[in-house]
Amino acid sequence: MDYFRYREGVLHCEDIAIPSLAERFGTPLFVYSQKTLLRHLHELQAAFAEVEPLICYSIKTNANLHICKLMQTFGSGFDVTSGGELFRALQAGGTGDKIVFAGAGKTDDEIRQGMEAKVLMFNVESDAELTALARLASERQQIVRIALRVNPDVDPQTHAKTTTGKRGTKFGMDWDRIAAIAGRLLGNRWIKLSGLHMHLGSPILTTEPYARALERAVPLIRELRAQGHDMEYLNTGGGFGIHYRKQEALPAEAFAKVIMPAAKEARCKLILEPGRFIAGNAGLLVTRVIFPKESGGRHFIIQDGGMNDLIRPTLYDAFHRIWPVQPAPGLPCPPEDFEAAMPGTQLCDVVGPICETGDYLARDRWLPPMQTGDLLAVFSAGAYGMAMSSNYNGRCRAAEVLIDGGSARLIRRRETYADLIRAEVEV
Ligand SMILES: Cc1ncc(COP(=O)(O)O)c(C=O)c1O
Repeated sequence: MDYFRYREGVLHCEDIAIPSLAERFGTPLFVYSQKTLLRHLHELQAAFAEVEPLICYSIKTNANLHICKLMQTFGSGFDVTSGGELFRALQAGGTGDKIVFAGAGKTDDEIRQGMEAKVLMFNVESDAELTALARLASERQQIVRIALRVNPDVDPQTHAKTTTGKRGTKFGMDWDRIAAIAGRLLGNRWIKLSGLHMHLGSPILTTEPYARALERAVPLIRELRAQGHDMEYLNTGGGFGIHYRKQEALPAEAFAKVIMPAAKEARCKLILEPGRFIAGNAGLLVTRVIFPKESGGRHFIIQDGGMNDLIRPTLYDAFHRIWPVQPAPGLPCPPEDFEAAMPGTQLCDVVGPICETGDYLARDRWLPPMQTGDLLAVFSAGAYGMAMSSNYNGRCRAAEVLIDGGSARLIRRRETYADLIRAEVEV
């Protein structure tokens, strides 16, 4: 459920008409709904309430400080994967006791930064990382809490590039190595093994991959506890899918039904690292048509949102619903099925202005004819949109606004040309 609705033929975010935002802040523009962000966080908190989980919003999803601050204010901790994300979490008011630090390639500096912040735990992904952590912890004479990240070797049935929990990816450690690694830690004065971490991939549309991974995780936790480790935490990562096409995603309760019994059985406190579930459908990208174009027997809608703004279609073949912000009379607001042909539409490619054939937001999409200046809404763009944006092709990053009822707050200004060269040393 989100707060983007057509009212009298015009798309609104909460109580504000999108065209007024495009006018005021320009395009391309990321528009976020505060009510939707909080609703999604509350859905998770309510579904898992029985086990009182620590929810650590996954900063990589959408790192805007204002959104992080909102998460922090409403009870969330943070999952960070780099020194930069840790910096952001702290800037947003996060405290180390609610931060988990993941990432397959933490540098010494980043580990030191995490220790300085006294993060709740490091999610350790390799022997070599453990060696580095033990060295740095001993150097600082600081006890460091860790979870071992297991590679659960389950197929989350998502895109190959977002599949992290299959054997052979760079993430985590194989099941059969965890007990031996844990055994070696027993004599280590500075490293305290406190949990097991896993992240299967994303977005996940069934509970089965979690069930399969947890079937093995619970006995493993018991085994590690029997070794003498104080296994306080089970961290099941993120990955809960969202509605990108239709209503294909599961509610939080469905995941809770599978995950909570495992946490109870393992006698662990549960940590969740949701990102997309909270932010994905709380944001849209508003773009403006530059030119319509007919070429090679195809209809192109060239609009000002490029792969530098939203790279998911190019990178992951991701599907984003796209529809005019003010559809002509007679057209649905919006259609039930964004993939179906309907009267008044034609098959189009929605492309950006960037010099790459891969620069598109959608291909083979049924859309009404669009004219220069028309606005398009690209839905489900709140997660991994702005966070993955770049300056490629000399493009200034988009602005971001956060809507709360009838008020619109600019939470990131549009970049300028001066921003493009700011970090370059003088020529
Ligand atoms: C370790 C880890 N945790 C959490 C997440 C967040 O995943 P999602 O946004 O699908 O919830 C990711 C995403 O890549 C991840 O790698």
